[in-house]
Amino acid sequence: FTKQTGFPKGFLWGGATAANQIEGAYLEDGKGLSTSDLVAYKDPYAKGVVDNFTFNVNSSELAEYLAHPDNYLFPKRWGIDFYHRYQEDIALFAEMGFNVFRLSISWARIFPTGLEEEPNEAGLVFYDKVFDECLKYGIEPLVTMSHYEMPITLTQKYNGWLSRELIPLFEKFATVILERYKNKVKYWITFNEMNMTLNSLYTGSGILEDLVENKLEAAYQASHHQFLASALAVKAAKKIIPDAKIGCMINQIEAYARTTKPEDQLQAVKSNQLNMFFPDIQARGTYPSYMTRYFTENAIELVMEAEDERILKEGTVDFVAISYYMSHVTEAREDASELAVTFDSPIKNEYLELSQWDWPIDPIGLRISLMKLYDRYELPLFVCENGLGAKDVVSADGNIHDDYRINYIKKHIEQMQEAIEDGVDLMGYTTWGCIDLISCGTSQMSKRYGFIYVDQDDQGMGTLKRIPKDSFYWYKKVIETNGAYL
Ligand code: BG6
Repeated sequence: FTKQTGFPKGFLWGGATAANQIEGAYLEDGKGLSTSDLVAYKDPYAKGVVDNFTFNVNSSELAEYLAHPDNYLFPKRWGIDFYHRYQEDIALFAEMGFNVFRLSISWARIFPTGLEEEPNEAGLVFYDKVFDECLKYGIEPLVTMSHYEMPITLTQKYNGWLSRELIPLFEKFATVILERYKNKVKYWITFNEMNMTLNSLYTGSGILEDLVENKLEAAYQASHHQFLASALAVKAAKKIIPDAKIGCMINQIEAYARTTKPEDQLQAVKSNQLNMFFPDIQARGTYPSYMTRYFTENAIELVMEAEDERILKEGTVDFVAISYYMSHVTEAREDASELAVTFDSPIKNEYLELSQWDWPIDPIGLRISLMKLYDRYELPLFVCENGLGAKDVVSADGNIHDDYRINYIKKHIEQMQEAIEDGVDLMGYTTWGCIDLISCGTSQMSKRYGFIYVDQDDQGMGTLKRIPKDSFYWYKKVIETNGAYL
């Protein structure tokens, strides 16, 4: 046996973004309105505490936003103007030495309402230019087909993924982009963080939750439709791009038991199952047996069709991707309907420090997650999001001294290296928000993750100037040495 030490040759190093958090140009060149264009900025400090999540939209809010858009701020409409500045941004990624860049394609740029027969050529051209720019520097695009947005028409007409009608519409979108970019994009992820539909029906699935009776049932029904759409996209990818690597993705939040009490330990197993449920289906192609009891006990009845079993079986993924930000603490509770682990752990882990947004920082949890996932699937893994949202300050010298970010990422890279030495097959690492972008959860600009500072505030004011932070130069060295320098 030869033990792998350090990161393997060809390891993919880079950063990650999503269309609706960077592009802006929300109606340019024929793009239609997306669900994310209708998430209004709400002062996250208004209640005296940081509210991590303002990304649910109900039907009356949607009607109000559509009727009086000028009364609100919609930061995801302007992003960081990547639409016009992608050349400068990709050049900076290249300077850091990226060999991969994760981004998503906005469905509404390609099919403005989702219902058109023919795609919007101008939208397709934009991504052609972006991919060409990446390839010019030897950067492989890693493309998420669906990252928390869809044409708003699909929410209005079908209540999003609650409807089975979305499956052929998504399949059409997926086939168009696979065909168009088959010579440019080899790495794909079908859906971003599928498990987060349990946290936000609107952001995860385009569903207005006040229009559904049983939210939990709606989340699982919408997920069922996304599983099918994902499996069909995987099948299409394998046909159109024979050497494509196409993966699934969850937000991996490892649940620890609060105590050694067996009841608490059991609850941790169950909580983790609720998260693993998503890759279980996408990697193995069948519904796991533990969900039968969960569905019965929670009065969830899913509508399925005869062909579904076959579709899921035929569309299993090549790799399992995760975002990783934190771990979670759970305990046995009376309330059996407790959801899968979420961002808002009610129980604090006394051993962990918190970020400025109260997210527990747990690098070892990443190693634990990778070890468990690899044991479970024996498929290559990809950490396609990880990072620290922090309030950066531009110092008097004009620079951003973000040693806290360097420290955070360093500790997570160390744990990935440990996992590799444990035998985990890890393909790559793309830190979240490699350039500052609009927060998904809070729509803040001031929650910054980047190696590159963007001069813009929460209200959208600023020069949009890009400034490399200290972490930029540090990450460049990490990549140069394939992780040896930390
Ligand atoms: C992940 C999402 O859940 O977390 C990203 O895939 C998101 O879109 C990231 O931006 C960080 O969350 P937030 O709320 O800090 O932007």
